[in-house]
Amino acid sequence: MMTTPHALVAGGLGVIGRNLVTHLAGDLGWRVTAISRRAPDFDTTARYVSVDLEDAAATRAALAEAGPFTHVFYAAYQECGGDAARQVAVNLAMLRNCVTAAHDASPGLERVLLYEGAKYYGAHLGAFPTPAQEDDPRVMPPMFYYDQEDWLTGFSKGKRWDRVVMRPDVVCGFAVGNPMNLAMVIAVYAAICRELGLPLRFPGSAGCYGRLAQVTDAAQLAAGSAWAATEAAGDTAYNLTNGDVFRWNRLWKAIARHFDMDPAEPMPIPLAEMMADKAPVWERIRERHGLVDVPFDKIAAWGFGDFIFNCDWDVVSSTTRIRQAGFAPVVDSEAMFLRLFDEFKERKVIP
Ligand SMILES: NC(=O)c1ccc[n+]([C@@H]2O[C@H](COP(=O)([O-])OP(=O)(O)OC[C@H]3O[C@@H](n4cnc5c(N)ncnc54)[C@H](OP(=O)(O)O)[C@@H]3O)[C@@H](O)[C@H]2O)c1
Repeated sequence: MMTTPHALVAGGLGVIGRNLVTHLAGDLGWRVTAISRRAPDFDTTARYVSVDLEDAAATRAALAEAGPFTHVFYAAYQECGGDAARQVAVNLAMLRNCVTAAHDASPGLERVLLYEGAKYYGAHLGAFPTPAQEDDPRVMPPMFYYDQEDWLTGFSKGKRWDRVVMRPDVVCGFAVGNPMNLAMVIAVYAAICRELGLPLRFPGSAGCYGRLAQVTDAAQLAAGSAWAATEAAGDTAYNLTNGDVFRWNRLWKAIARHFDMDPAEPMPIPLAEMMADKAPVWERIRERHGLVDVPFDKIAAWGFGDFIFNCDWDVVSSTTRIRQAGFAPVVDSEAMFLRLFDEFKERKVIP
């Protein structure tokens, strides 16, 4: 390894990427180059390169100039409006453009990390065998993770570098404008309920309320990713969650207490639909509390909340493999949510 590793973080403004950049550049002192189309609106020692990963030539030119890299952390993602077939085409092309360009620019490349999630096991389709283990059989495609992983496995063959797959679930951390960020959904929903004089009602199904659930703290994922990049066995997939599980029926009450609100029993409230006309309510809250100016349609991913709050099945991944391999920290998920809400408040994102 070079004296100071040089990480390329693709998707450096996402909920995974942004927190990873902070950890690698801030806590570990790595040299970090991050990619996204937007520019960061915060101070960082990382170098952000604005390039569209769908554009192969532009990606090649940008990485030839920014490299060489020792590690690639691939956390770029396009939701493509939820169109699963298009997700495959777009996300596979982006990964291919990024990794081939990083490979060509980096004679000393050591490892490529790819982020997947519990959808690998069918968590988005219905009840699946739990706790899900890394080598469990795949489910019916389309599922872009499979195409990305298969391509990366093939491309890495015979190369001097290897690959590691990380499978977190429901990553919670600070990021704005991303399609999967549960903590922001809950925080903004709570503020709107309070403004409307409503209790904090669980906006999902009674089934989901009592099921086992899991999340991954973005900071835990960042630390686990640094471990996986440098210490884990290569050519392996690792589930990585907080290491605990919870049921919403207990956590929801703790969240209500934290916001000093009354909790209320579940009611399936379709957030994407019901929040569509709440921009004026949010604007009122924002002005009164002097909050940062984030457009209402970027502040919370309501569709993601609808999905998570209506999983009428346990969502649990086994973390035995990664713990036995040497990454064993456990995060208390309740404490994590409350800490994140405090952080959002400090950042003036919520009242
Ligand atoms: N969030 C979760 O709860 C979660 C859980 C498990 C697994 N995962 C997986 O982890 C991966 C990353 O997820 P995430 O939630 O961190 O994503 P995210 O918050 O949506 O971030 C995606 C990042 O990719 C960048 N990006 C998108 N299109 C790009 C393009 N054409 N060129 C360059 N950059 C581009 C975005 O920045 P710009 O828009 O500025 O380009 C952003 O920085 C995905 O595969 C996701 O399925 C996520």
